[in-house]
Amino acid sequence: MILEIINKKRIGKELSYKEIDYFFNGYLNGVITDYQMSSLLMAICINGMTDEEIFALTKVFIDSGDVLDFSDIPGIKVDKHSTGGIGDKTTLVIAPIVASLGVPVIKMSGRGLGYTGGTIDKLESIKGFKVDLSDEEILDQVRKINLVVTGQTADLVPLDKVIYALRDVTGTVSSIPLIASSVMSKKIASGADKILIDIKVGNGALLQKREEAKKLSEIMIKIGEVYHKEVRTIISDMNAPLGRCIGNSLEVLEAIDVLKGREKDNNFVDLCYKLATEMVSMGKEITKKEAYYLVLESINSGEAYKKFLEMVGMQGGDIAKIKVSEKTYKIKSSSNGIITKINALEMGKISLALGAGKLNKDDKLDYSVGIVLNKLIGDTVKKGEVLATFYTNKKIPEIKIENIYKIN
Ligand code: URA
Repeated sequence: MILEIINKKRIGKELSYKEIDYFFNGYLNGVITDYQMSSLLMAICINGMTDEEIFALTKVFIDSGDVLDFSDIPGIKVDKHSTGGIGDKTTLVIAPIVASLGVPVIKMSGRGLGYTGGTIDKLESIKGFKVDLSDEEILDQVRKINLVVTGQTADLVPLDKVIYALRDVTGTVSSIPLIASSVMSKKIASGADKILIDIKVGNGALLQKREEAKKLSEIMIKIGEVYHKEVRTIISDMNAPLGRCIGNSLEVLEAIDVLKGREKDNNFVDLCYKLATEMVSMGKEITKKEAYYLVLESINSGEAYKKFLEMVGMQGGDIAKIKVSEKTYKIKSSSNGIITKINALEMGKISLALGAGKLNKDDKLDYSVGIVLNKLIGDTVKKGEVLATFYTNKKIPEIKIENIYKIN
């Protein structure tokens, strides 16, 4: 049976629900080995899956753990997921905006993967911030302040945890069927009524081509239809880092600046407004234009920042204690011109080398390190001006400026 299933997918045939259930649950239960599962994952990567197979895999994932029910909480609960990027701290900004406008936000976030940071790691850089809330604590906090951002409980799609860990080390992460079932199963099991997915495309993302992102978007929307949940998607650029900061504490500080209305007009702020507008439009069932004005108002009035502080306070954090490394290293421009490119992947690699992410599962994160982009794409720069500042507690890795920046 095991070899038959692998061979069937190897030659591009469709697997039945029963076969998918048998194989994936067999892996969770220890009947299927790592090498057999890796082989099937690679066959899926190469030959893809039909819509029916993707629906089946999503169901097997969802059924492997708990499905949360927040129907007792009044209002439409809208969840958001990003497929991951460099400097992506949008949740820290948009969750408080949306919650401050009366749409309940129960957000279960993950940790960093590869070069991309995770919201939970960023929040943990706020000393004392609790990210492992119990179901009761989550419900209590949402009832009180309309907002909670916490880690995924162990019982939520356990199959995704083991499969993702294997994909991460077998070159099988960038597969549309596997990404779709992994993301959508978690969002459906998290009890959201409606779901917004931010699909990243570019050299700092899982997907490199827009056509692939469109395919992923289509299948995610179809999965939503199967579960009677509205799914909207945004395809956003991940060729340049998002915003000014990369690294856990630095990103929290940047999110605070955006919530205070101090940062305007960059790719990160634009994306936050876009995503928050979609979520508010979905949660309040209003037009995007109406939602956009509400989003602006929540920043301008200070309500969004107030909501962020309420969340940090209730989850035990103290923003006065966010630490950034005192040791810095600056890179400077060797020419005059306009910045036309900042390579997200290269910046992600450096940030990982500084300790802002994990190279190995057991590495410890250094929350205080990272990168601040002093100049962004479109900025004019003079020879000798600082392009970026690296906050570090280690020896700086070799940095080839010409691999990161294009200055014309
Ligand atoms: N994020 C996920 O949760 N799963 C994937 O497969 C890719 C990105």
